[in-house]
Amino acid sequence: MRVLVVVLLLAVAYAKHEKYQGWKSYFVGPASADQLKALAPLTEQYQVDVLSHPLVSREGVVLVPPQQQSGFLSTLESLDIKYRVHAEDVKTSLDYDDQRIAAKNAEAFLRTGKRSLPYDNYQTLDAIYAYLDDIAARFPSTVTLVTHGNSFEGRPLRYLKISTTNFEDEDKPVIFIDGGIHAREWISPPSVTWMIHKLTEDVTEPDLLNNFDWILMPVVNPDGYAYTFGPDRFWRKTRSTDSHAWSTFCPGVDGNRNYDYFWNTVGVSSNPCSDTYPGNRAFSEPETRAVRDVLDKYLHRMALYLTMHSYGSMILYPWGHDGSLSHNAFALHTVGVNMATAIDALSLPNFPNYIVGNAVLVLNYPASGASEDYAHLIGVPLSYTYELPGLAGGFQGFHLDPIYIEQVCRETWAGIVVGTRRAGELFRR
Ligand code: ARG
Ligand code: ZN
Repeated sequence: MRVLVVVLLLAVAYAKHEKYQGWKSYFVGPASADQLKALAPLTEQYQVDVLSHPLVSREGVVLVPPQQQSGFLSTLESLDIKYRVHAEDVKTSLDYDDQRIAAKNAEAFLRTGKRSLPYDNYQTLDAIYAYLDDIAARFPSTVTLVTHGNSFEGRPLRYLKISTTNFEDEDKPVIFIDGGIHAREWISPPSVTWMIHKLTEDVTEPDLLNNFDWILMPVVNPDGYAYTFGPDRFWRKTRSTDSHAWSTFCPGVDGNRNYDYFWNTVGVSSNPCSDTYPGNRAFSEPETRAVRDVLDKYLHRMALYLTMHSYGSMILYPWGHDGSLSHNAFALHTVGVNMATAIDALSLPNFPNYIVGNAVLVLNYPASGASEDYAHLIGVPLSYTYELPGLAGGFQGFHLDPIYIEQVCRETWAGIVVGTRRAGELFRR
């Protein structure tokens, strides 16, 4: 019986990530702006999944399905674009990641006898939601838990409001930070739960708690996030099936193409199976509508909006559809640099320095319907996309080694501290 159970467990474990059997991943390092431009159409052509966008000065990482590998590589060679293998077999690397995560879980279990919200390991949706409940119960004078409707699959969409004045002081600037809109970007939700930690359980910057009202939403896309812990580690979109006739076969909408900002114009695919499918209309998704409603409700005093993604070590600002600069570009740039400088000062030698700039000018690709652009469009003066660090050297598995999660959370908080104080100064003027 025992043996049977073990055999069954192993069978389940190895059945996982089946989809990625035979996939390979590559570092791709374009040497010029022309090469970078030439890369863009190849991702669609060869159904390549871009995990981290390459820059001229920085390799990106892409996943390539088995039947596309020879075509993709020969095209790279004909264009003289440098590449090297990152993972020989994506499934094997994902299995390795799972082992690391399981070992860490076992360790934490031995240590505490129960599971609390970990920062030496990735955080499940259940653990995060239990933490939001727990924090709201333990800090009733400053924390309010809000459930803003449900996701497509019926999970609650939840955020915390943190305020020493119950959001009643209309002179206080509001800071709104969300994470987890892209399901597979697993470092994003912990970066936001850490902010909750720093404003409740471990307040080392009381001015941030006293002088600002906070809205923190760690998982905008709970359906997708849950899905990445089960059937598909690399799921990015929501899980809706009502956008298109094919959506039952290819569910989901790219949340960060679904906002009403030049919606469905550039950097999107009309194919619902694509990872950048923007939906059948702006705000088709309950998840993006929840973020929109928060932006709308507190717009009159919102000083800073951040949306946490991974990875790339970048702080990006509008406009992301054409690379033009907003009226507030000088403040966007200087506050961005202030945040990046504070983060870099705490960073590790094997992490790259942050790059700060306009989203298109940095990434070299335009995208419409992104949340940071929408927030800025409607009037949030400081609005950024964070691409958190990932894949710091030496990890054999797929994503950021769990040993670096807390590091990323700590250094990111340093950026938030500086950004918030600067936003406060600008807001009061
Ligand atoms: N990796 C993000 C995405 O593709 C970057 C978004 C940058 N912002 C923008 N407005 N283009 O969704
Ligand atoms: Zn993302």
